[in-house]
Amino acid sequence: MSDLKNDLILRAARGEKTKRTPVWLMRQAGRILPEYRAVRASLSGFKELVETPERAAEVTIQPVDILGVDAAIIFSDILVVPEAMGLIYQMVEKKGPLFEKTIRTHKDLEQVKVCDPEELSYVYEAIKITNNELNGRVPLIGFAGAPFTIFCYMVEGSGSKTFSNARKLIYANPELAHQLMQMITDSTIAYLKGQINAGAHLIQIFDSWASVLGQELYRDFSLPYMKKITDALFGLAPITLFAKGANFSIKDLASLQCNTVGLDWNVPVSFAREQCLGKTLQGNLDPAVLYSSGRDIVYHTKKMMAAFVGHPHIANLGHGVYPDMRPEAVKTFINTVKEYRHE
Ligand code: CP3
Repeated sequence: MSDLKNDLILRAARGEKTKRTPVWLMRQAGRILPEYRAVRASLSGFKELVETPERAAEVTIQPVDILGVDAAIIFSDILVVPEAMGLIYQMVEKKGPLFEKTIRTHKDLEQVKVCDPEELSYVYEAIKITNNELNGRVPLIGFAGAPFTIFCYMVEGSGSKTFSNARKLIYANPELAHQLMQMITDSTIAYLKGQINAGAHLIQIFDSWASVLGQELYRDFSLPYMKKITDALFGLAPITLFAKGANFSIKDLASLQCNTVGLDWNVPVSFAREQCLGKTLQGNLDPAVLYSSGRDIVYHTKKMMAAFVGHPHIANLGHGVYPDMRPEAVKTFINTVKEYRHE
């Protein structure tokens, strides 16, 4: 790690004081960049891009060159894990992911296995190529979906506003639900170890659908598996946990062996600071701010930065950038963070 020229994000994750706050964006590699769309258009689609390490590395590095972020995030998707477990997905244009099969019965469970982490070697290869090409300019973030969020897709088979089939399975057949969660967890641990071995400097776990569970069910059903992952990875790389829309979970997440807790824009920063003592916080500007004028983006970004004064912080939006955002607006956000100095 000593060969990194910019290790701000790693030092902030460890709670060290840094000369300025590091910044990156969720979904920074993607459709907001014409350069990304050009690469994607030259291939058969999203999945080919994910599975072709040289091209995945290329689009991973684009936001570092074009936007000037302090970290790269490997171009992939959380859905590669359920696929390696045996459920093939398609990424349907303008609609999102679609699985051919779902897991709703014990019989269905026979269709999946704990994945062989070698099946995801194309991701490790992309990580190695990216680090070679980055040559230490910035750290590389690896990631996976949280077991509950992956469970949602495996049971539901697609996106959903409520994931009611996933929640139904938890109540109707808790034993089966826990069996599937354990298989996802074991797969995820092996996969994340593979990413760290390949050179990922920091790991983020996305619990994107945490909000469909209440606090009690989150504690019973998602948190224990998050704990298994953080316990297994502790000491190997700094870990960020991000449970979108689940303010009620941040204190529980902060009690795990993680370094950083990600915040969406609905969480009052003062509340998060109290709930997450001793942990770095990441976030949390409302992405929609980037639709406002340049002056307003600067104003809201500075206000967000000021709210974190005295607390270890990694600047980000409260969720991923939206596809129709102007790269110029994104750059205004990034530059405002980079120029910001507390006091
Ligand atoms: O830049 C980065 O953040 C790295 C790449 C990345 C992608 N997906 C690429 C992608 C990351 C970190 C993800 C994570 C992911 N994927 C999550 C968790 C983060 C979150 O947003 O809450 C989730 C829930 C998914 C599942 C997924 N992938 C959905 C629901 C969709 C369709 C909707 C959408 O946002 O487009 C995807 C597709 C996807 N993953 C795209 C990209 C760049 C768009 C595909 C395209 O190029 O058209």
